[in-house]
Amino acid sequence: MKTIITQGLPIVDQYTYLISTIAPRPIALVSTIDKAGNVNLAPFSYFNIFGVNPPIVAFSAALSGKTALPKDTLHNLREVGEAVINLVNYDMVHAASLSSVAYPLEVNEFVKAGFTAIPSEQVRPPRVAESPVQLECRMVDIIALGEQGGAGNLILCHVDRIHIAEHVLTAEGKINHLALDLVARAGGNYYCRMNENSMFEVPKPLHSFAIGVDLLPETIRHSHILTGNDLAQLASVEQLPTPEQLADLVVPDYSKDNLTERHTIARQLLAKNEKMKAWKVLLD
Ligand SMILES: Cc1cc2nc3c(=O)[nH]c(=O)nc-3n(C[C@H](O)[C@H](O)[C@H](O)COP(=O)(O)O)c2cc1C
Repeated sequence: MKTIITQGLPIVDQYTYLISTIAPRPIALVSTIDKAGNVNLAPFSYFNIFGVNPPIVAFSAALSGKTALPKDTLHNLREVGEAVINLVNYDMVHAASLSSVAYPLEVNEFVKAGFTAIPSEQVRPPRVAESPVQLECRMVDIIALGEQGGAGNLILCHVDRIHIAEHVLTAEGKINHLALDLVARAGGNYYCRMNENSMFEVPKPLHSFAIGVDLLPETIRHSHILTGNDLAQLASVEQLPTPEQLADLVVPDYSKDNLTERHTIARQLLAKNEKMKAWKVLLD
């Protein structure tokens, strides 16, 4: 493995390594306003949720790498501590990127990027109508992480209102994960799209206790066929299944003496989330 010591490494290299590996990152398209009423819009992918009680999200507006000057978003939040964080879906990604151009403070990036501004209910900055989820936020703190170019300014926001487009909701009013079609930023010019081609499910280990990989039988743990993911799936049971628990499960045909074949079939069953059937083939 190559090991990189950050101390003394040029900022641009630190940026490239970290931005390309801490990925994908969700994108906050942040609408703010200054005290003169100038509206600003810019995307930030140093962005995430940090708690729900209270509901706090944060993003970081770094000081310019070239001039060390604050970005307009940071300037505005220091003047008017309100923001709308608009989430970015695939249909908006090019316009969101366009809104990252460093226009002067008085230029409204809604206009430049072709977004539609709609009034918020509680805060002064407008919302992006095209965004499927819009968070009306009150800034609660700004933590400066340094004074030189590239230094972050962690902006903590309390979410007061969540506006969600009807078309991304199920009939029960829950989020339809596939309909959201959000995008995320990776390194360089790369982005990811959250749709049925890129999303998959990992069932939660629902049990209060899971035996863990260390307690799997030796032949399973040292299998040349089963992967780390396979072992972890098998290990998320409360106890080794008993023959009675497995008796009624219908599994594919295999030859009992052929360990390779049994492990291969178990892998295929695990890939279909049929964990107990995999156990039946392995414990036979
Ligand atoms: C997808 C995307 C994500 C970005 N994420 C960040 C970020 O997290 N922090 C940051 O300081 N700049 C980020 N930028 C760059 C800012 O959007 C850019 O500096 C912008 O001009 C800032 O606008 P403002 O001066 O109007 O606030 C990002 C740009 C793009 C296209």
